[in-house]
Amino acid sequence: MKLLVCGGAGFIGSNFVRQRVVDHGDAVTVLDKLTYAGREENLADLRDREGFAFVRAGIEDADAVAQAIDGVDAVVNFAAETHVDRSIAEPDAFVRTHAVGTWVLLEAARAAGVRYLQVSTDEVYGSIEEGSFSESSPLAPSSPYSATKAGADLLVSSYFHTYGLQTVICRGSNNYGPYQYPEKLIPLMILNALHGDRLPVYGDGMQVRNWLYVEDFGRAIGHVLEHGAPGEVYNVGGPDECPNIEVVKRIIELTGADEGQLEYVTDRPGHDRRYSLGSEKIRALGWEPQVDFSQGLEQTVSWYRDNPAWWEPIRSGDYREYYERQYGSKIKD
Ligand code: NAD
Ligand code: TYD
Repeated sequence: MKLLVCGGAGFIGSNFVRQRVVDHGDAVTVLDKLTYAGREENLADLRDREGFAFVRAGIEDADAVAQAIDGVDAVVNFAAETHVDRSIAEPDAFVRTHAVGTWVLLEAARAAGVRYLQVSTDEVYGSIEEGSFSESSPLAPSSPYSATKAGADLLVSSYFHTYGLQTVICRGSNNYGPYQYPEKLIPLMILNALHGDRLPVYGDGMQVRNWLYVEDFGRAIGHVLEHGAPGEVYNVGGPDECPNIEVVKRIIELTGADEGQLEYVTDRPGHDRRYSLGSEKIRALGWEPQVDFSQGLEQTVSWYRDNPAWWEPIRSGDYREYYERQYGSKIKD
Protein backbone atom coordinates (compact mmCIF):
# COMPACT_ATOMS: atom_id res chain seq x y z
CA MET A 1 0.00 0.00 0.00
CA LYS A 2 1.12 3.59 -0.55
CA LEU A 3 0.17 5.89 2.32
CA LEU A 4 0.23 9.59 3.08
CA VAL A 5 0.64 9.83 6.86
CA CYS A 6 0.01 13.32 8.23
CA GLY A 7 1.48 14.07 11.66
CA GLY A 8 3.75 11.03 11.22
CA ALA A 9 6.69 12.67 13.04
CA GLY A 10 4.83 12.73 16.36
CA PHE A 11 4.49 10.05 19.02
CA ILE A 12 1.78 7.72 17.69
CA GLY A 13 2.34 8.60 14.02
CA SER A 14 6.04 7.67 14.08
CA ASN A 15 5.32 4.34 15.79
CA PHE A 16 2.61 3.65 13.18
CA VAL A 17 4.88 4.58 10.24
CA ARG A 18 7.58 2.23 11.60
CA GLN A 19 5.06 -0.66 11.69
CA ARG A 20 3.82 0.04 8.16
CA VAL A 21 7.31 0.39 6.62
CA VAL A 22 9.09 -2.38 8.53
CA ASP A 23 6.34 -4.97 9.11
CA HIS A 24 4.14 -4.38 6.04
CA GLY A 25 6.58 -3.04 3.42
CA ASP A 26 4.34 -0.05 2.68
CA ALA A 27 5.60 3.03 0.87
CA VAL A 28 4.96 5.97 3.20
CA THR A 29 5.14 9.72 2.71
CA VAL A 30 5.04 11.59 6.02
CA LEU A 31 3.69 15.14 5.90
CA ASP A 32 4.33 16.97 9.16
CA LYS A 33 4.61 20.61 10.21
CA LEU A 34 7.19 19.72 12.90
CA THR A 35 5.62 21.67 15.74
CA TYR A 36 7.34 21.42 19.14
CA ALA A 37 5.91 17.85 19.39
CA GLY A 38 6.99 16.63 15.96
CA ARG A 39 10.59 15.53 15.49
CA GLU A 40 12.38 14.07 12.48
CA GLU A 41 14.55 12.14 14.97
CA ASN A 42 11.44 10.02 15.66
CA LEU A 43 11.82 8.61 12.13
CA ALA A 44 15.64 8.55 11.97
CA ASP A 45 15.85 4.76 11.51
CA LEU A 46 13.49 4.90 8.48
CA ARG A 47 15.14 7.75 6.60
CA ASP A 48 17.05 5.53 4.13
CA ARG A 49 14.30 2.96 3.55
CA GLU A 50 13.03 2.59 0.03
CA GLY A 51 9.59 4.19 -0.43
CA PHE A 52 9.93 6.46 2.61
CA ALA A 53 9.67 10.21 2.07
CA PHE A 54 9.30 13.21 4.38
CA VAL A 55 7.63 16.55 3.58
CA ARG A 56 7.68 19.40 6.06
CA ALA A 57 4.32 21.20 5.72
CA GLY A 58 1.11 21.90 7.59
CA ILE A 59 -2.07 19.99 6.71
CA GLU A 60 -3.72 23.38 6.21
CA ASP A 61 -1.33 24.03 3.27
CA ALA A 62 -3.51 22.96 0.31
CA ASP A 63 -0.71 23.10 -2.29
CA ALA A 64 1.69 20.96 -0.28
CA VAL A 65 -1.08 18.46 0.50
CA ALA A 66 -2.17 18.26 -3.18
CA GLN A 67 1.41 17.41 -4.18
CA ALA A 68 1.97 14.87 -1.41
CA ILE A 69 -1.31 13.01 -2.01
CA ASP A 70 -0.51 12.28 -5.65
CA GLY A 71 -0.42 8.50 -6.24
CA VAL A 72 -1.29 7.31 -2.71
CA ASP A 73 -3.96 4.71 -1.85
CA ALA A 74 -4.99 6.26 1.45
CA VAL A 75 -4.47 9.17 3.85
CA VAL A 76 -4.04 8.58 7.58
CA ASN A 77 -4.34 11.75 9.64
CA PHE A 78 -2.57 11.96 13.00
CA ALA A 79 -1.73 15.67 12.67
CA ALA A 80 -3.03 17.52 15.71
CA GLU A 81 -2.27 19.64 18.70
CA THR A 82 -2.63 17.08 21.46
CA HIS A 83 -2.06 18.47 24.93
CA VAL A 84 -5.14 19.41 26.97
CA ASP A 85 -3.20 21.83 29.22
CA ARG A 86 -1.89 23.73 26.18
CA SER A 87 -5.41 23.86 24.70
CA ILE A 88 -6.62 25.58 27.88
CA ALA A 89 -3.81 28.15 27.72
CA GLU A 90 -3.74 28.74 23.93
CA PRO A 91 -6.62 27.20 21.93
CA ASP A 92 -5.81 28.97 18.59
CA ALA A 93 -3.64 26.31 16.97
CA PHE A 94 -6.13 23.61 18.00
CA VAL A 95 -8.91 25.29 16.03
CA ARG A 96 -6.66 25.93 13.02
CA THR A 97 -5.22 22.43 12.74
CA HIS A 98 -8.29 20.39 13.68
CA ALA A 99 -10.91 22.42 11.80
CA VAL A 100 -9.14 24.05 8.83
CA GLY A 101 -6.41 21.41 8.49
CA THR A 102 -8.84 18.48 8.52
CA TRP A 103 -11.04 20.24 5.96
CA VAL A 104 -8.07 20.79 3.60
CA LEU A 105 -7.10 17.11 3.86
CA LEU A 106 -10.67 15.95 3.24
CA GLU A 107 -10.93 18.12 0.14
CA ALA A 108 -7.63 16.72 -1.15
CA ALA A 109 -8.73 13.12 -0.48
CA ARG A 110 -12.01 13.80 -2.25
CA ALA A 111 -10.27 15.30 -5.30
CA ALA A 112 -7.84 12.35 -5.43
CA GLY A 113 -10.59 9.77 -4.74
CA VAL A 114 -8.60 8.00 -1.97
CA ARG A 115 -9.56 6.46 1.38
CA TYR A 116 -9.25 8.62 4.48
CA LEU A 117 -8.63 7.50 8.08
CA GLN A 118 -9.00 10.07 10.88
CA VAL A 119 -7.18 9.35 14.13
CA SER A 120 -9.33 10.55 17.00
CA THR A 121 -9.65 10.21 20.74
CA ASP A 122 -11.91 8.89 23.51
CA GLU A 123 -11.96 12.46 24.87
CA VAL A 124 -14.65 13.45 22.33
CA TYR A 125 -17.18 11.51 24.48
CA GLY A 126 -16.27 13.46 27.64
CA SER A 127 -16.05 11.92 31.11
CA ILE A 128 -17.91 8.79 32.31
CA GLU A 129 -18.32 7.77 35.98
CA GLU A 130 -19.31 4.13 35.33
CA GLY A 131 -19.44 1.81 32.33
CA SER A 132 -17.84 2.51 28.96
CA PHE A 133 -18.60 4.56 25.86
CA SER A 134 -19.66 2.87 22.63
CA GLU A 135 -19.37 4.36 19.14
CA SER A 136 -22.97 5.58 19.34
CA SER A 137 -22.52 7.45 22.64
CA PRO A 138 -23.16 11.20 22.27
CA LEU A 139 -20.18 13.48 21.82
CA ALA A 140 -19.74 15.69 24.92
CA PRO A 141 -16.19 17.09 24.85
CA SER A 142 -14.96 19.21 27.78
CA SER A 143 -11.73 20.93 26.67
CA PRO A 144 -10.78 23.01 23.63
CA TYR A 145 -8.63 20.02 22.61
CA SER A 146 -11.46 17.48 22.68
CA ALA A 147 -14.06 19.92 21.31
CA THR A 148 -11.98 20.67 18.21
CA LYS A 149 -11.21 16.95 17.76
CA ALA A 150 -14.96 16.24 17.94
CA GLY A 151 -15.58 18.95 15.34
CA ALA A 152 -13.03 17.30 13.04
CA ASP A 153 -14.76 13.91 13.48
CA LEU A 154 -18.12 15.42 12.50
CA LEU A 155 -16.60 17.02 9.42
CA VAL A 156 -15.06 13.67 8.41
CA SER A 157 -18.46 11.94 8.76
CA SER A 158 -20.09 14.69 6.69
CA TYR A 159 -17.70 13.94 3.80
CA PHE A 160 -18.85 10.30 3.87
CA HIS A 161 -22.55 11.21 3.93
CA THR A 162 -22.41 14.15 1.53
CA TYR A 163 -19.72 13.23 -0.98
CA GLY A 164 -19.36 9.47 -0.52
CA LEU A 165 -15.71 9.81 0.51
CA GLN A 166 -14.47 6.46 1.92
CA THR A 167 -13.79 7.55 5.50
CA VAL A 168 -13.14 5.72 8.77
CA ILE A 169 -12.49 7.11 12.25
CA CYS A 170 -10.45 5.41 15.01
CA ARG A 171 -10.99 6.77 18.53
CA GLY A 172 -8.15 5.67 20.80
CA SER A 173 -7.84 5.81 24.58
CA ASN A 174 -4.75 7.26 26.34
CA ASN A 175 -1.60 5.98 24.62
CA TYR A 176 1.83 5.49 26.18
CA GLY A 177 5.16 4.07 24.97
CA PRO A 178 8.41 5.15 23.26
CA TYR A 179 8.78 8.62 21.63
CA GLN A 180 6.01 10.34 23.64
CA TYR A 181 6.76 14.00 24.32
CA PRO A 182 7.39 14.49 28.05
CA GLU A 183 4.49 16.86 28.69
CA LYS A 184 2.10 13.89 28.99
CA LEU A 185 1.64 12.07 32.29
CA ILE A 186 3.73 8.91 31.79
CA PRO A 187 6.91 10.25 30.10
CA LEU A 188 6.84 13.36 32.32
CA MET A 189 6.73 11.23 35.47
CA ILE A 190 9.39 8.78 34.20
CA LEU A 191 11.88 11.53 33.38
CA ASN A 192 11.18 13.48 36.57
CA ALA A 193 11.50 10.27 38.60
CA LEU A 194 14.86 9.45 36.95
CA HIS A 195 16.12 12.98 37.65
CA GLY A 196 15.00 13.20 41.29
CA ASP A 197 12.53 15.99 40.35
CA ARG A 198 9.05 16.50 41.80
CA LEU A 199 6.16 14.39 40.51
CA PRO A 200 3.17 16.78 40.10
CA VAL A 201 -0.16 14.97 40.54
CA TYR A 202 -3.22 17.07 39.64
CA GLY A 203 -6.00 17.29 42.26
CA ASP A 204 -6.55 14.09 44.25
CA GLY A 205 -4.89 11.85 41.61
CA MET A 206 -7.99 9.65 41.39
CA GLN A 207 -8.77 10.43 37.74
CA VAL A 208 -8.89 7.22 35.72
CA ARG A 209 -7.45 6.66 32.25
CA ASN A 210 -7.79 3.62 29.97
CA TRP A 211 -4.14 2.91 29.01
CA LEU A 212 -3.30 1.64 25.51
CA TYR A 213 0.23 0.69 24.40
CA VAL A 214 1.15 2.73 21.31
CA GLU A 215 2.01 -0.30 19.16
CA ASP A 216 -1.43 -1.79 19.89
CA PHE A 217 -3.05 1.44 18.69
CA GLY A 218 -0.89 1.38 15.55
CA ARG A 219 -1.96 -2.20 14.81
CA ALA A 220 -5.61 -1.21 15.31
CA ILE A 221 -5.31 1.71 12.88
CA GLY A 222 -3.65 -0.55 10.28
CA HIS A 223 -6.37 -3.15 10.80
CA VAL A 224 -9.19 -0.62 10.34
CA LEU A 225 -7.46 0.79 7.27
CA GLU A 226 -7.49 -2.68 5.71
CA HIS A 227 -10.79 -4.09 7.03
CA GLY A 228 -12.95 -1.22 8.35
CA ALA A 229 -16.29 -0.40 6.73
CA PRO A 230 -16.56 3.05 5.08
CA GLY A 231 -18.41 5.66 7.15
CA GLU A 232 -17.82 3.78 10.42
CA VAL A 233 -16.25 4.77 13.73
CA TYR A 234 -14.14 2.27 15.73
CA ASN A 235 -13.28 2.71 19.40
CA VAL A 236 -9.85 1.39 20.38
CA GLY A 237 -9.63 1.05 24.15
CA GLY A 238 -6.64 -0.25 26.14
CA PRO A 239 -6.88 -3.42 28.22
CA ASP A 240 -6.42 -1.69 31.60
CA GLU A 241 -7.80 1.26 33.54
CA CYS A 242 -5.77 2.88 36.29
CA PRO A 243 -6.05 5.97 38.52
CA ASN A 244 -3.24 8.49 37.98
CA ILE A 245 -1.82 8.14 41.47
CA GLU A 246 -1.44 4.38 40.95
CA VAL A 247 0.37 5.03 37.63
CA VAL A 248 2.80 7.40 39.35
CA LYS A 249 3.42 4.97 42.22
CA ARG A 250 4.22 2.19 39.74
CA ILE A 251 6.69 4.52 38.00
CA ILE A 252 8.31 5.30 41.36
CA GLU A 253 8.77 1.55 41.91
CA LEU A 254 10.13 0.86 38.43
CA THR A 255 12.63 3.73 38.54
CA GLY A 256 13.67 3.36 42.19
CA ALA A 257 12.60 6.99 42.85
CA ASP A 258 11.55 8.30 46.26
CA GLU A 259 7.86 8.62 47.29
CA GLY A 260 8.86 12.01 48.75
CA GLN A 261 9.11 13.33 45.17
CA LEU A 262 5.30 13.05 44.88
CA GLU A 263 3.49 16.36 45.10
CA TYR A 264 -0.25 17.07 44.83
CA VAL A 265 -0.75 20.28 42.82
CA THR A 266 -3.63 22.52 41.67
CA ASP A 267 -6.10 20.58 39.52
CA ARG A 268 -6.59 21.16 35.77
CA PRO A 269 -9.72 23.29 35.07
CA GLY A 270 -12.61 21.16 33.73
CA HIS A 271 -10.58 17.99 34.41
CA ASP A 272 -12.34 14.86 33.08
CA ARG A 273 -12.65 12.28 35.87
CA ARG A 274 -12.66 9.04 33.93
CA TYR A 275 -12.31 7.83 30.35
CA SER A 276 -13.38 4.34 29.32
CA LEU A 277 -13.97 2.86 25.89
CA GLY A 278 -15.86 -0.27 24.89
CA SER A 279 -13.98 -1.85 21.94
CA GLU A 280 -16.33 -4.72 21.00
CA LYS A 281 -16.74 -3.41 17.46
CA ILE A 282 -13.05 -3.47 16.54
CA ARG A 283 -12.55 -6.74 18.41
CA ALA A 284 -15.28 -8.25 16.21
CA LEU A 285 -13.26 -7.01 13.22
CA GLY A 286 -10.30 -9.10 14.44
CA TRP A 287 -8.09 -6.77 16.55
CA GLU A 288 -7.20 -7.14 20.20
CA PRO A 289 -4.55 -5.50 22.38
CA GLN A 290 -1.38 -7.54 22.91
CA VAL A 291 0.35 -5.55 25.66
CA ASP A 292 -1.06 -5.16 29.17
CA PHE A 293 -0.29 -2.12 31.30
CA SER A 294 2.33 -3.76 33.58
CA GLN A 295 4.35 -5.06 30.65
CA GLY A 296 3.95 -1.88 28.57
CA LEU A 297 4.91 0.39 31.46
CA GLU A 298 8.05 -1.64 32.16
CA GLN A 299 9.04 -1.47 28.47
CA THR A 300 8.36 2.28 28.41
CA VAL A 301 10.46 2.99 31.51
CA SER A 302 13.32 0.95 29.98
CA TRP A 303 13.07 2.83 26.68
CA TYR A 304 13.35 6.25 28.36
CA ARG A 305 16.17 5.01 30.61
CA ASP A 306 18.08 3.69 27.56
CA ASN A 307 17.51 6.66 25.23
CA PRO A 308 18.84 9.86 26.85
CA ALA A 309 19.98 11.07 23.41
CA TRP A 310 16.27 11.32 22.47
CA TRP A 311 15.07 13.31 25.49
CA GLU A 312 18.14 15.33 26.51
CA PRO A 313 17.67 17.98 23.78
CA ILE A 314 13.97 18.28 24.74
CA ARG A 315 14.61 18.73 28.45
CA SER A 316 17.25 21.37 27.84
CA GLY A 317 15.33 23.35 25.14
CA ASP A 318 12.00 25.22 24.91
CA TYR A 319 10.43 22.48 27.02
CA ARG A 320 12.06 23.93 30.15
CA GLU A 321 10.27 27.23 29.57
CA TYR A 322 6.95 25.38 29.03
CA TYR A 323 7.53 23.32 32.16
CA GLU A 324 8.25 26.34 34.32
CA ARG A 325 5.20 28.21 32.97
CA GLN A 326 2.96 25.19 33.47
CA TYR A 327 4.15 24.03 36.87
CA GLY A 328 5.83 27.12 38.34
CA SER A 329 2.59 28.34 39.87
CA LYS A 330 1.52 24.85 40.91
CA ILE A 331 4.63 23.64 42.68
CA LYS A 332 5.79 25.51 45.74
CA ASP A 333 9.42 25.22 46.95
P1 NAD B 1 1.88 14.37 19.09
O1 NAD B 1 1.61 15.70 19.70
O2 NAD B 1 3.02 13.54 19.60
O3 NAD B 1 2.11 14.52 17.51
C1 NAD B 1 1.33 15.34 16.70
C2 NAD B 1 2.08 15.50 15.37
O4 NAD B 1 1.27 16.31 14.51
C3 NAD B 1 3.44 16.18 15.49
O5 NAD B 1 4.39 15.50 14.71
C4 NAD B 1 3.18 17.59 14.96
O6 NAD B 1 4.35 18.19 14.38
C5 NAD B 1 2.13 17.30 13.91
N1 NAD B 1 1.29 18.48 13.59
C6 NAD B 1 0.64 19.31 14.46
N2 NAD B 1 -0.04 20.26 13.78
C7 NAD B 1 0.17 20.00 12.47
C8 NAD B 1 -0.30 20.61 11.26
N3 NAD B 1 -1.09 21.69 11.29
N4 NAD B 1 0.09 20.06 10.09
C9 NAD B 1 0.90 18.98 10.05
N5 NAD B 1 1.39 18.38 11.15
C10 NAD B 1 1.02 18.88 12.34
O7 NAD B 1 0.50 13.59 19.18
P2 NAD B 1 0.15 12.04 19.35
O8 NAD B 1 0.02 11.74 20.78
O9 NAD B 1 1.07 11.24 18.50
O10 NAD B 1 -1.31 12.04 18.72
C11 NAD B 1 -1.54 11.76 17.34
C12 NAD B 1 -3.03 11.69 17.08
O11 NAD B 1 -3.62 10.69 17.90
C13 NAD B 1 -3.77 13.00 17.39
O12 NAD B 1 -4.73 13.21 16.40
C14 NAD B 1 -4.43 12.73 18.74
O13 NAD B 1 -5.61 13.48 18.88
C15 NAD B 1 -4.71 11.25 18.63
N6 NAD B 1 -4.76 10.51 19.91
C16 NAD B 1 -3.77 10.65 20.84
C17 NAD B 1 -3.82 9.91 22.03
C18 NAD B 1 -2.73 9.99 23.06
O14 NAD B 1 -2.89 9.45 24.17
N7 NAD B 1 -1.59 10.60 22.78
C19 NAD B 1 -4.90 9.05 22.27
C20 NAD B 1 -5.90 8.93 21.29
C21 NAD B 1 -5.81 9.66 20.12
P1 TYD C 1 -2.34 13.65 29.98
O1 TYD C 1 -1.15 12.78 29.77
O2 TYD C 1 -2.18 15.13 29.81
O3 TYD C 1 -3.50 13.07 29.06
P2 TYD C 1 -5.09 13.45 29.00
O4 TYD C 1 -5.32 14.70 29.73
O5 TYD C 1 -5.27 13.62 27.53
O6 TYD C 1 -5.80 12.26 29.57
O7 TYD C 1 -2.88 13.41 31.45
C1 TYD C 1 -3.29 12.13 31.89
C2 TYD C 1 -3.85 12.29 33.28
O8 TYD C 1 -2.79 12.66 34.17
C3 TYD C 1 -4.88 13.40 33.39
O9 TYD C 1 -5.88 12.99 34.33
C4 TYD C 1 -4.10 14.58 33.95
C5 TYD C 1 -3.05 13.91 34.82
N1 TYD C 1 -1.75 14.63 34.95
C6 TYD C 1 -1.21 14.88 36.20
O10 TYD C 1 -1.79 14.52 37.25
N2 TYD C 1 0.00 15.52 36.28
C7 TYD C 1 0.66 15.94 35.18
O11 TYD C 1 1.75 16.56 35.31
C8 TYD C 1 0.09 15.66 33.88
C9 TYD C 1 0.79 16.10 32.63
C10 TYD C 1 -1.12 14.99 33.82
